[in-house]
This record gives sequence, C-alpha cells and structure tokens, in this order.
Amino acid sequence: MCGIVAYVGSQNAAPILMEGLFRLEYRGYDSAGIAVMTARGSQVCKQVGRVRELEAALPRRLAGKAGIGHTRWATHGAVTQENAHPQVSEDGRISVVHNGIIDNAMDLREVLIGKGETFSSETDTEVVAHLIARSGGDRLEDAVLDALGQITGTYALAVTDADHPDRIVVATNGSTLILGVGDREMFVASDLSALVRHTTSVVHLDDGELATVTASGFRTFSKEQENTAKTPVSIDLQAEDVDLGGHQHFMRKEILEQPSSTERMLRGRLDERYGTARLDGLNLGPRELRGFRRLKMLGCGSAYYVGQIGAQLVEELARMPADAEPASEFRYRNPVIEPDTLYVAVSQSGETADTAFAVREVKRKGGQVVGLVNVVGSTIARECDGGIYLHAGPEIAVASTKALTHMGLGFALLALALGRVRDLSITDGQRIASGLLALPDQIAQVLADEPAIAEIAASLAAARSLFFIGRVRGFPVAREGAQKFKEVTYRHAEAYQASELKHGPLALIDASLPTVAVVPDDELKGRNLTAIEQIAARGGRVVPITHPGVAELAARGANITVPKNELELDPILLTIPVQLLAYHAAHALGLDIDKPRNLAKSVTVE
Ligand code: AGP
Repeated sequence: MCGIVAYVGSQNAAPILMEGLFRLEYRGYDSAGIAVMTARGSQVCKQVGRVRELEAALPRRLAGKAGIGHTRWATHGAVTQENAHPQVSEDGRISVVHNGIIDNAMDLREVLIGKGETFSSETDTEVVAHLIARSGGDRLEDAVLDALGQITGTYALAVTDADHPDRIVVATNGSTLILGVGDREMFVASDLSALVRHTTSVVHLDDGELATVTASGFRTFSKEQENTAKTPVSIDLQAEDVDLGGHQHFMRKEILEQPSSTERMLRGRLDERYGTARLDGLNLGPRELRGFRRLKMLGCGSAYYVGQIGAQLVEELARMPADAEPASEFRYRNPVIEPDTLYVAVSQSGETADTAFAVREVKRKGGQVVGLVNVVGSTIARECDGGIYLHAGPEIAVASTKALTHMGLGFALLALALGRVRDLSITDGQRIASGLLALPDQIAQVLADEPAIAEIAASLAAARSLFFIGRVRGFPVAREGAQKFKEVTYRHAEAYQASELKHGPLALIDASLPTVAVVPDDELKGRNLTAIEQIAARGGRVVPITHPGVAELAARGANITVPKNELELDPILLTIPVQLLAYHAAHALGLDIDKPRNLAKSVTVE
C-alpha cells in the first residue's frame, strides 16, 4: 500500500523520485505523484493509475534538487487526481506525502473550514498540509511539530516548504520511514527497495521520531525537540535483489530462489551436536523458554496459515499447546493475555496493520511477543520483544512464496529450541536438524519438476472452481494452496479438511470441479485415500500432492510427488508445489501475476 520517496542533493530530483516510485509499485497503489522544489516554487504533478502514466504526464522541464513522491492506496476519498499525494496547502507552499491514517482529520477539517480554509481534496493528508502552513513558526521543523501536536493517528510523513527548498522534514508514528545516506545527498523511503539503488547506508526512524534531511546530512530528533543521535547502519541488500534478473515475473523468481535462500537462512542457526537451534534474537534464555506453557501464533492471510503449520510443529516437537489465530480477529475480541503464553507475530512485510495492532494489544496487557519477520527494521520487528529474522531477501510479488517457506523454517527452529529445553531427546533434535538441513536440496528437487507441474496447472486453470483438501499436517498446506490459487488466478478455490467432505461439500463434486489433495505419507494416508476414492467415485478429478511412498497414488498418474522429509517438517516441502500450481495456472490465463487486482503487498490499513 502507500509508499513514500524523497530526495535532496545535487542531482535533479524528478528522475530519482520516479525511479523510487517504480520500485514502490509492487506494494499496490491506485495513483501517484511528486512535488519538486523548482526555481519557481513547488511544482506538483499527480496522476491516477500507474507510475508510467505519471511519468508520461510530467512536464518536460522539471528542474529542482529536492522533492517528495508518493504512491497512494485510497483510504480517505476516492481514487482521483485531487486525492492523490502530494497534498498541498492552500498557498501551494507546503507539500506533504503521507502513509497511514489521521484519526481526527474530520474534526480538524471542520475547525479549519470554520477559519475560512478551503480544501481541494477529501484526504486526511490535506489537513496536515494546511495545519503546517498555518503554523506561525519560521522553521519548517517547528511548523511540522506544531501540526503533529494536533493530530492523532498513524503516519509516515515527508514535508517540503517552497520557502526552504534545501530541506525535507519527515516524521513517523506507527509507519516505517528510512533515511538513505548518500555522498552529499540524502534519500528517504518507506521501503528499502526504493533506496537500494542509491545507497546501502541507512537509518531506521523510530516511532515518534522526526528528521530534517538536507544535502549535507540529517538530524533526527524527538517531538520534545531533543536530538536522537542515530548512526547509519549498512544493509545487506543489492540492487539485483529487487530486479527481475531475466525472469518474466517476480513470483517465479522468488519461488526459484528458495533452495539458496533457505540454505542461507539456516546457516549458523542449527547446533547439530546438541540437536537444537541457536536463536539469539529471541532474547530468551533456556530458563525463560521453559517458563512458557503455551504458544499463540498471530498473522494474517498466508502468514496465518503458516502459523498453523508452526502451531503443529510446536505441539509435536515441544509437546506444548499451541494454536494460530488471524491477527485481524484477535485484536478486536478483547483477548485474554496469559503471562505464561508466548505470542508469536508472523509477517513478511512487518508492516501489516492488523498484526502490528495485535502485537500492541499483547504488549499493552503485559504479554510477551516475539516476531517472525522478513523485513529488517520494520514496524512489527521493532515493536516485538525479540524475534527471528526470516532472511528471505526482498519479496516483491504480491503473492508471498519464499517468505512463507522461511516462516515455516522459523517456526521449525523455534519448535526445536522449545522442544530441546523440554522433552525432545537429543536424538530427535538431531533428526529434526538433519531434516532441516536437507530441505534446500529437496526444494530444488521439487522445482526440477516444474514443467510437469506447469502442465497440471494449465489444466486446472480451465476450472471455474476447485477444492484443496488435506488433513492435520496437510490442512494448512491445502489452505495456503487455495489462497495462492485464488490470489493470482481469480478462480474460486476452497480448502477443506478431507475428513469434512462427506459432511456437505461432497455434494458439489462432479467432473467440472477438480480437487488438489495433499496426501503426506503419514498415519492419515489411508484416510486421505478414502476421501480421494469418494471424490473419484462421483466423477471428480483429483490431483494429489504426495510422497513417493504412497504407492496407491503412484498408479493414478498426474501426481505431484515431493521428497519425504521428517514427518513434522513435511508440510514445509508440500507447500512448494502449490506455489507452482498457482503461478503456472495464472500464467496460462495470461494474468498480471505480480500485481493481482485489488491486492497490495503490505496491508497497512485495517
Ligand atoms: C500472501 O500471498 C498474501 N498476499 C497475504 O495473505 C499476506 O500473507 C498477508 O497479507 C500477510 O502479509 P505479511 O506477511 O506481510 O504480514
């Protein structure tokens, strides 16, 4: 959703801002705009639609060494040019780009209208521009602070003042903003991917922090105007990480990266000798880990489904009660927070509003929450008490793939560490550690079957509706399979426990409704086979995702087989084919795979 870029330095700002906006496209947006500090004051260009349409609409001459840019996902007000950002003050002097929501914007707007101000958009952001412009102070910093004192809500803001074109003032509260430090130039972005082409030296702003950036550097400070001396850190990210690198789609690139990315994630985190995991980032010693009596995983969408895989791993390896709940529901039901429960927030982006609010709810009530997060320095990563970084690298496609696999690995490491301070024997710990180390190669083996899986996917793309079924370990895989299929193919896909089919949905089965059945070689194999027979007997087509040892399915043809790992870890590997099925079905349908309609990469609004 919404994205911010800003630049001040010796180069022409407009091309740098545009390049940044192209980098932010993957987050999802419906309009875009920039403001450049030119010799004739602030010049603002906005456009509904894609960034390339904004680029086409830019005036030929747009020279200026500082500016701000934005991709907007409509919340307050329709998708119109007027509502796109930057929003400007009535006199055109102040320009503002904003991620987040100003809760008291309506009230402030009324007050300002009462004082004679007129508004040209329906946005909450325009209120901020007006407040800043009205503030009497000489310095832009003071005017921004004055406005912040009047607003409530979440924000990442970047502000320019045509009277002070040498500086940009930025502020955050519950929404990420990162400074990029260059050589006599400074960059600002809400996402590292918009910075990585220019610098790897960055400063993550904390909640409540502000910064003034000029060509010669930056100053960070608090709302109380105290300097908050920040040292830039170096990020381990290359420009190629956010490029297509010869692939047609990011989704496929990211699926294919998994053997190397998972190998990188596991490196150094397994202690094979003692059959356990090294998770220093959790900030929890063995005694503290032993003190917890249950776990609750909190995430949204696919992250919630992987949370279910994680809960099973914890129950199996650590024999502790564990469950997963959508963070979007948890935060609204006044949850009982138990002191001996470890809450685990799981998120690729680390910016999902529902998950971030769930973290705050746990913390507000004195609970302990750790994060399984991919984006370093993101809101959720910062707000948790500790955590496990997923190290999947940037994920650009809206449909999450590699980050989910890394979440599965993160949960396996956590379950192993919890198990080994309880009753999991050293031999079993070593067995799981070896299973984890075997996963990258096994993922490569699944990916080697891509042509056959693509063929099956193309045949599934013809169906208007599908079932994905599984039981216990296979069920979260089925849920993720249905989710991924829906997301990128726009086909209806529904996940069911195989055991529940006979209680109703079997009525829908006929030759037009295929079923993808997740059938691990485990103690439920026989029962899964029975469900498959029931579907076949009613003329339904079944595509099993299974293990080589399930001989009964080997004869059926059109199976997808994945290598067998340890029973507890099997769901992680069984998920790889559902990624390929969704990708290739969408490809067969000729859809915009990386940017499915109506969806955003990180859902930063409720
Ligand atoms: C996954 O393919 C989806 N795009 C979506 O369900 C996603 O997993 C969910 O929005 C959570 O995102 P997060 O991991 O960034 O928190």
